[in-house]
This record gives sequence, structure tokens and C-alpha cells, in this order.
Amino acid sequence: MKITVVGQGYVGLVTAAGAADWGHDVVGIERSEERLVALLGGRVPFHEPALAELVETHLDSGRLQFTGGGQDAVASSALTFVAVGTVDRNHSWETRTMRACLTEIVPHIPDDGALVVRSTCPPEFIGQLVEFVDQLRIEAGRGPIAVMLNPEFTKEGTAVKDFLEPDRVVLGVASDPTGQGVALLREFYAQVDAPILVLSAMDAILSKLGANLFLATKISFANELAALCDLYGSQIERVIEGMAHDPRIGGSFLRAGIGFGGSCLPHQVTMTVRDAVEHGHETPLLAAVDEINLRQKTQFVERISALTDGLDGRRVALLGLTFKPHTDDLRAAPALDIARMLIDSGATVVAYDPMETARRNAKAQVRGLIVVSTALEAIAGADVIALATEWPEFITLPWARMARVVRQRLVVDGRNALDPDALVEAGFVYSSFGRGLRVPGGAAQPVAPQIGARPVGVPVRAELAVSDL
Ligand code: UDX
Repeated sequence: MKITVVGQGYVGLVTAAGAADWGHDVVGIERSEERLVALLGGRVPFHEPALAELVETHLDSGRLQFTGGGQDAVASSALTFVAVGTVDRNHSWETRTMRACLTEIVPHIPDDGALVVRSTCPPEFIGQLVEFVDQLRIEAGRGPIAVMLNPEFTKEGTAVKDFLEPDRVVLGVASDPTGQGVALLREFYAQVDAPILVLSAMDAILSKLGANLFLATKISFANELAALCDLYGSQIERVIEGMAHDPRIGGSFLRAGIGFGGSCLPHQVTMTVRDAVEHGHETPLLAAVDEINLRQKTQFVERISALTDGLDGRRVALLGLTFKPHTDDLRAAPALDIARMLIDSGATVVAYDPMETARRNAKAQVRGLIVVSTALEAIAGADVIALATEWPEFITLPWARMARVVRQRLVVDGRNALDPDALVEAGFVYSSFGRGLRVPGGAAQPVAPQIGARPVGVPVRAELAVSDL
């Protein structure tokens, strides 16, 4: 099939390259000159595993092309996907970009083609979409076209695989009187071995939002449970294991830590809560999800401070800046807020992330942040090591060697990713979320052994036996 994908960000580029891999003839439209030049040279402007290889392969095969214009491509495409941004810098929905993009492309879509909105749109815009498109067609003197939604569920870090092997495909019908939109999209996804669900446009967009809101809720639930584990002296991973065999519960997305970041979960929770209030509606569960997610970052900083007996003048080695591993994306990355809080409290924060672009961008975004180009440089001379992103290279650090270069042997694991036994064996005090406090030579201690005796989750220095090291 001939298809066009408008917008070559994470969503659009994965869609374009994946579609080319299925054998479709794809034109990707990109308005940013810088991004277009990179793509034309075969360079992917962000880090996404397997994507650069796919782009290179299909630039060579000729099935993938990029352009800054693309009206001709739209005119000869069966499907025109739109994957442009819908959230502004203040984390509010915005549809200006979408409307401007539709104004340019909709008049050129052939009568037997379909418009496919792949961006996550605000529910209110879904109600206006068909009217907007119909009006553009009338003004251009053309007949109506099928208008479809096709929300994506890909995760950064595994986006290519998620696209090529989805667990479901959701098609939302905004306007498709002849069934041509559904038929074309079924043909587009012919190689996919997964259920194809045909829903109304509003049901489709709410299933996209619902999926992300549920995932965020699972993470905040795990963090709530981890706080109870710290209170009662239990181990969160063991507790989750004891729950996860129940198929109604499952074990995924229940990793406790400093909370969720990224381009979707945080702002979709915040915007849903805020928009509901504007409609005089309350979403207390989602408000709590948001609050717990913020609290995790504050508690992380409090734990670091409690271990180092205050932050003023302390040197913190911050391991990881990206919102999760295998991406260079810093959007809503918890590490950045944490770095700001630590610096505001007088700490010197020396950060390292395996992604060079992430280091550079984090330095530009966080005033006073020092970035270095190896984990060892960050750790040398540190009063405390704070892990914010579970990159594989941090999991396998030679801790016995690290113990010799730090000023104090203290680790606060914000992702529950490190092996507490290996850490204490190397002589570190180890603090995390819902795993108790581990000190060398001692069994796991509850963070707050006497219920109610001190704030939940905040260890007290006297318990730490730092002097024993
Ligand atoms: C998310 C959705 O998963 C995906 O389906 C949607 O299409 C886009 O938004 P993404 O933003 O790439 O994907 O990241 P995801 O893997 O969902 O992780 C989001 C955040 O939650 C990360 O900061 C991650 O570290 C955190 N997380 C995830 C946890 O804290 N605990 C977990 O158990 C899982």
C-alpha cells in the first residue's frame, strides 16, 4: 500500500519504518529542517533500539522516503497517518499543531483514501474532528473521506518490536460510512497476528488513555505497597511475587521506586485530573496516583538526606538521567526533579547517564548539575550513590571496587534494581523502596520498626551504623 506518515517523532517514525518493513511504500513528512536533514542522511534523531537499522534498511530498499513537503505523496496514498504533538510545554493538551497539519493535508487526501489520526488527542477534540475535516473538504471542493483513529501503545526502548508485534490493534471510527477506512486499515495490518478491535472514535481514544492511566495506577499502587513494606519490615518484591500468580493481578508494572516519567504517563494523569475538575468532575483515584508519584521523588531525596545526615555540602553521585533505560528521553524524567531538589538543598550533584545526548540536555536543563562521562567519575569521592535509572551497566558495577573510591559507603536505589546482598557484602548501607534498610553484617531492618514512631520511609542516621564501615 502507499501510505504517508505526517510527523517523524517517536510515534510517526516508528510507524513509517515499521510499515516499510511490512512492505508498504512509505513517505514520512517532517517539517523540522534539522530533523529532516538527519533522516535524509539515515540518522535517527533520538535513541530507540533497532530503529536506526530499520530506517537505514528501508531507505536503501526504497520503501521509505522522507520529505518536508509531501502533498503529492498524500494525494497518492491510501492511508495518511498523522502523528504530531498534542501536548504543550506546560503539560496541557494542544490541538493547534494538529489543526494546522490537517488544514494542509486533508484537501489532498484522495476520495477513496482515509485519514488516520495516530496522535493521542484530547477527548474533546474527537467530538470536533469530523466536523473540522468535513469543512476542510468542502472548502477544497472535494468529497468526504473516512476519518479513523489508530492509537499506538508502543513503549520507548521497545517501540519497534511493539509496533511490529502488537498485542492488539485499536481502530477508532470517527467517520466511515462505506467501511473503507476500516478495510484499508485491516489491509495495512494484514501481517499482524493480534486482535483488531473496531471501536467508536471516543472509545478508542479512551482505551488509549485508560491503558496509560491504569499503568500509572499500578505503579503508584506498588509504591504505596512499598511504603507499607517499609513500615512493617517486609520485602516488596516477595510481596508482589506472592500476589502475581493470581492471573487477576499479574506481576508487571508493579516495580516500586521513584515513580513514572516519560512523555505519556505523567502528563496524561495530570491532565485528566485537571480537565475533570474543569468539568466539575472528580477523579480521586487518579489524583492520588499523581500525588504518590510526586511523593516518591521527595521521599527519595529525604532518604538520601537522612543517610548523609543532611544534604548541605554533600556530594551525590546520581546514576541515570533518562526516564527509563534504553532511551535518551528526558521528558518528565524523575532524575531531573530529584537533581534540582538535591542542588536546592546544598548538595553537589555529579551525574552520569550512558546516553551522551541525555547528559548534555540534562546539564542544560538543571542549573548547577555536573555531568561526567563515566559512572566511576560520578562515584569517586561521593558521599552517597543515588540510582535514578536502572541502566544495565549500573546493575553490573563492580561494587567492591566502588566501595574503595567513595567517601561514604551509602547507596539509595531509586529503582529497586541493585542486588542488596552484593551491596552490603561490598560494605555499603543500602536503602531502597520497600526492601527495608540493609547494613553490612546485619539483616534487613524495617525503615520504621516501631509503627508510628517516625515518618514512614525516612531512615534515622543513628540506625545506619555508618561508623561500622
Ligand atoms: C508508556 C506506555 O507503557 C505505552 O503503552 C504508551 O504507548 C506510551 O507510554 P513509555 O512512556 O515508553 O510507555 O514508558 P513505560 O515503559 O510505560 O514506563 C513509564 C515510566 O514508568 C518509566 O519512568 C518507568 O521507569 C516507570 N515504571 C514502569 C515504574 O516505575 N515501575 C514499573 O513497574 C514500570
